[in-house]
Amino acid sequence: MSTARLDYHGDVAVITLDNPPVNALSHAHRTSIVAHLRAAEADATIRAVVLIGAGDAFCGGAEIREFNTPAALAEPITRQVAEAAESLKKPVIAALHKVAMGGGLELALGCHYRVAAPGAAIALPEVKLGILPGAGGTQRLPRAIGAKAALDMITSGDPMTSQAIAPLGLFDQIIETDLLEGAVAFARHVADAGMPLRRLRDESVKGTGIVELIAEARARMARDWRGYPAPARCVDALEAAVTLPFDEGIRFERKIFLELVETPESRALRHGFFAERATSKVPRLDPSARGHRLNAVAVIGAGTMGSGIAIALANAGLQVVLTDADGAALARARAYLDRTWSSAVERGRLDAAGKDRRLALIETSTDLASIARADLVIEAVYEDMTVKRAVFERIDAHARPDAVLATNTSSLDVDAIAAASSNPARVLGLHFFSPAHVMRLLEIVRGRATDDQSLATGLALARRLRKVGVVCGVCDGFIGNRMLEEYLRQAYFLVEEGASPQAVDQALEDWGFAMGPFRMMDMAGQDIGWAIRKRLSIDHPDKPYAQWPDRLCEAGRFGQKTGSGVYRYEPGSRQALRDPEAERIIADSVRLQGIEQRSVSAADIVERCVLALANEGARILEEGIAARASDIDVVYLTGYGFPRYRGGPMWHADTLGLAAVVDRLQAHAGERMGQTLSPAPLLRQLAVEGRRFNT
Ligand code: 3HC
Repeated sequence: MSTARLDYHGDVAVITLDNPPVNALSHAHRTSIVAHLRAAEADATIRAVVLIGAGDAFCGGAEIREFNTPAALAEPITRQVAEAAESLKKPVIAALHKVAMGGGLELALGCHYRVAAPGAAIALPEVKLGILPGAGGTQRLPRAIGAKAALDMITSGDPMTSQAIAPLGLFDQIIETDLLEGAVAFARHVADAGMPLRRLRDESVKGTGIVELIAEARARMARDWRGYPAPARCVDALEAAVTLPFDEGIRFERKIFLELVETPESRALRHGFFAERATSKVPRLDPSARGHRLNAVAVIGAGTMGSGIAIALANAGLQVVLTDADGAALARARAYLDRTWSSAVERGRLDAAGKDRRLALIETSTDLASIARADLVIEAVYEDMTVKRAVFERIDAHARPDAVLATNTSSLDVDAIAAASSNPARVLGLHFFSPAHVMRLLEIVRGRATDDQSLATGLALARRLRKVGVVCGVCDGFIGNRMLEEYLRQAYFLVEEGASPQAVDQALEDWGFAMGPFRMMDMAGQDIGWAIRKRLSIDHPDKPYAQWPDRLCEAGRFGQKTGSGVYRYEPGSRQALRDPEAERIIADSVRLQGIEQRSVSAADIVERCVLALANEGARILEEGIAARASDIDVVYLTGYGFPRYRGGPMWHADTLGLAAVVDRLQAHAGERMGQTLSPAPLLRQLAVEGRRFNT
């Protein structure tokens, strides 16, 4: 099947990459492009060739799904497609619009000239997939735009717009009018003027101070990207571009590419890429349900959460009605919003007009009747069932009858909250993570009665806010916090058993977590965990807890906000410091319980905490709370600081092998509280069948 088209515009051949959705370079597509290049070369009537993309992209790069399969190695590989363009005896012009990434940009770098539409996203994002540009990008880009800019693009993987990158020399023209027409005209001009076939391979890398630049980048990658093999290798490849002849540099790049693509880290990162995209495919949701058009959103409750949600909404250009019965709370929220946007202006992330535009979108009111014009109402009051139900009883009287109603809860029963409304079909849960304007994750809780239109509104909101929306069912804590409870249970037990809190935090941070459990709970508030434990110990009296965290809370040690928790904090500082007082409280608690302590290894700490996550994930999957294992991974990757290069708790368990996971969980059975790690039925079953969580 041909995935590229060849058309003739007089004496200019136009090859259109047409492989939806993003014209990725599958083997069939690569073959077809090369065939068309050869045909254009052989046709004596053709004087120049334009390469352009159909649909919404020039090209999103190599076909990632082919990696680690024979198709990825089948010739022509992407590098050879770029070489086919570069070695053509007629000028080849790449015309880029919307998206030119990875192998797509590398193909364009192989062309003799490049033109672009304004606003195209240009990137070499391979590093985010745990690899490096493997089709000549590390060698040609520094020759095109200089070592410094190329190093930044290749090591960050972040896109630049075509206008921003044009002054660096990547484009010969930005075409503001019709791209195809403009590119054909440019191609004809190149042919008419007899302009040379400009090959980047023949040029040298531009820039000064390159040796220092590379040394600095190498140190930065080692510091900032612990656990990720690709960033440092990107620097090595860039160094090769500077120090080696082109062909040797290309061979070096290929060798590293082939090494990296086989690493567990790259496989995990690619899992994360597809897992995020799979979240939008929701089972049992009518695909025609688009959700409500969102113009105005009401937020009830102007505390930290409500304010963060208001910022996120206004950042996305939505009108916001922020209500709170307490006028002083509204004034504090307004000041907080102002401060947040002012600091964005100071850091150059927003201009003054942008701040004013956002502030103008915010209306505050103490009158609940002001929610009347909202398409969506988000309740964000105190996390207490009675309080939330009381709000829902009142919402009905004021909200439009067709408005979608959402409760922002981190663990409460959404069905019980919905039951307080006269129409539970329009109620869903939206679990924002704090700070709501920063965190990418949004758990979208589908209640028993939630209708498709309301659920689709939640999904549309996530997209609008540029968040990853993961749909889940109703249970205590949903996906993320329910699993967190098991993780924390083990972390607290490990301290009772003899590990210091610092050792537990250190072991998990060394393993790759953004923050260890105790530092995290000190930040979130130890009192929150305390309240959850009190509630869960009534609902699940069978589940034991370590006792010392309650003793800390009884002493008023709620974490950063009270200046002390598991650690102590100097005023105004978030740095966790060892605290002999906390250690005394823990030691007293352990002594009173008569627990005999032992030495606990870092490996044990990681194993118990991380496998506890996967084990609870298995229960969540079995109960249908999550639609697929990869949704659980996404929750942990985007909301809980799980190391991306390990792919998420379920992917990690798959990587270990589920039979090995069952063995390891059982190995802890003899330890104090080891029974809390009893393998979940689904985990046992998949292990016996030799299957994985992620299919
Ligand atoms: N290979 C395979 N599938 C891809 C793909 C790729 N390179 N890029 C996107 N897709 C798929 C997505 O999985 C999704 O599929 P789905 O509809 O079945 O879920 C579909 O295309 C649309 O993608 P998005 O939902 O992400 O669409 P957006 O419009 O939001 O974004 C994009 C488009 C910016 C291209 C984004 O998809 C993206 O960042 N893609 C990855 C780009 C990338 O990393 N390229 C480098 C690939 S590796 C490479 O080129 C190696 C080379 O150096 C040899």
